[in-house]
Amino acid sequence: MKSITSADLVTFVVDSREEAEHALAAEIASVVRAKPNAVLGLATGNTPIGLYRELIRKCATRELSFAHATTFNLDEFLGLERGHPESFHRWMDQNLFGHVDLPRERAHLPEANSGDAGADDDAVRYEAAIRDAGGVDLQILGIGRNGHIGFNEPGSPRDSRTRVVELHEVTRADAARSFGGLEFVPKRAITMGVATICSARRLRVLAFGAHKAAIVRRTLLDAVNSDCPSTFLRGHVDVKLFLDREAAREL
Ligand code: PGA
Repeated sequence: MKSITSADLVTFVVDSREEAEHALAAEIASVVRAKPNAVLGLATGNTPIGLYRELIRKCATRELSFAHATTFNLDEFLGLERGHPESFHRWMDQNLFGHVDLPRERAHLPEANSGDAGADDDAVRYEAAIRDAGGVDLQILGIGRNGHIGFNEPGSPRDSRTRVVELHEVTRADAARSFGGLEFVPKRAITMGVATICSARRLRVLAFGAHKAAIVRRTLLDAVNSDCPSTFLRGHVDVKLFLDREAAREL
């Protein structure tokens, strides 16, 4: 693992994504061993899937237990029926929750199907629930091709908290294939805010593949700016970015 020295975002370039997944899974296991009731921030998408596989393996071999842990996911599409195949609720069940000993009542995601009137209140309640749980000890994050973190799309303020957002066209286009067409992709979501994410005590960010190379360069080198919300990660007291060689190729 090669490390790139940067004043404000510690960056590691790994030979394979598995190397990053194993390193991060080991760190999560040690956080949870030291603090069994740790609060973890979780992400969905292609990026964390191998990490979750490794966490599942560690639970199966009893190297790790989530029996006393609590989790909060970053975000959820709005307007999906419970159990919708593309909901992040369903995705988390399939890719992590269904295979580990985390009690379901402590696995939190924003509501997907609150009506228009209820969504703002749900967002406020979600932010309060994170605070009441003591805040996030370790947040897992990917970066969208447009620089979003969670669903904090370009233009999201640094001081934003959990709220309802309109999805950016790049985000909706990236989701179109799995939804079976752009017209089926929700237009809105609930997301933790930039400030919510940056309140986590540790941020661990993953980016894999050539399609992330441009946004990785902007994340590290652009002026810190809401046009590229991932630049707000820089300067966090304990942030680490793991890249495979393809994602690092523009550095
Ligand atoms: P991906 O998405 O993991 O599917 O590339 C990352 C993100 O949008 O945060």
